[in-house]
Amino acid sequence: MEAIETVDKDHALVESIIKSYGGALASLVPILQDIQSEYRYLPEGSLRQVASSLGIPLIQVYGVATFFKAFSLKPKGRHQCTVCMGTACHVRGAGLVVEELERNLKIKSGDTTEDMEYSLETVNCVGACALGPIVLIDGEYYGHMNSAKVGKMLKGHEKKSAKTGKAREEKATGAKKPMKKPAKKSKGAGKARPKAGKKK
Ligand code: FES
Repeated sequence: MEAIETVDKDHALVESIIKSYGGALASLVPILQDIQSEYRYLPEGSLRQVASSLGIPLIQVYGVATFFKAFSLKPKGRHQCTVCMGTACHVRGAGLVVEELERNLKIKSGDTTEDMEYSLETVNCVGACALGPIVLIDGEYYGHMNSAKVGKMLKGHEKKSAKTGKAREEKATGAKKPMKKPAKKSKGAGKARPKAGKKK
């Protein structure tokens, strides 16, 4: 039952993305981009749906989905870790950074951790050569990277994303810190204590 509900929800979501572009064939790339940003990859069912809604052969949708490196047909991790292997970064030791990340995350470049937390990949030149070697996590630049800094970078990023995730959740749910109840006044509170007199 739950599975059917999920399929319906996914179908409705993809349909709304397609509709937001007026179902135009020229919008195939942005449609796929939006689907990918929802699911962190392009599920097969969504590609079929796009093909049938736009009235084009599935192979055409696959052609675009496999042409651009930004698209993935495999589920991706919650965090995308990308190492620049362009010439400037490579000569400054980007290869060692990749090896250290592979050791830390226990995956090979191009793979995703079992808990779906991290995906690791390499790219060529991200356009900030002076800061090389560069690692990008979820679009955030970590420059002058070396293998000794990798562990600290991963921990720091996790902490930061946990904080922003919590803040986002609080904003979405409107959850606020519970207000402190005013302390109850005890019966005698505020009254002047009778002076201790001598017993007669
Ligand atoms: S080579 Fe790495 S940013 Fe240009």
